[in-house]
Amino acid sequence: GVNGFQRITPSQLKKMTGRKGKPAWSSWQGKVYNITPYLPFHPGGEAELMKCAGRDGAKLFMEVHPWVNWENMLGSCLVGVLVPEEQSPL
Ligand code: HEM
Repeated sequence: GVNGFQRITPSQLKKMTGRKGKPAWSSWQGKVYNITPYLPFHPGGEAELMKCAGRDGAKLFMEVHPWVNWENMLGSCLVGVLVPEEQSPL
């Protein structure tokens, strides 16, 4: 895609759980990030960060530390943008 970023559907995101050899992805404000490289560095631990794997992380993230800047921290881990599921043609 444009600038090499991928278009990712919610069902694709759901598979990126960080398990079974897949990377852990999480979305934030319509963008999808690979959180795998950050796991060992997360001050709250890997298990906590893994709770947002394969889904939108905004709610959990904002419950715990709304002062942390997700986009600044994980900017280099941006994978692509969330898009709607493929629509079958009429
Ligand atoms: C602490 C980053 C997701 C739970 C922190 C801190 C950072 C950080 C920078 C230190 C904050 C401070 O001391 O002011 C991130 C990033 C995330 C993420 C970039 C998403 C990509 C999550 C999620 C959870 C979580 C989803 C929980 C489900 C925690 C907890 C701490 C923490 C419990 C406190 C650790 C402590 O002080 O003992 N995180 N976090 N984080 N995070 Fe996250």
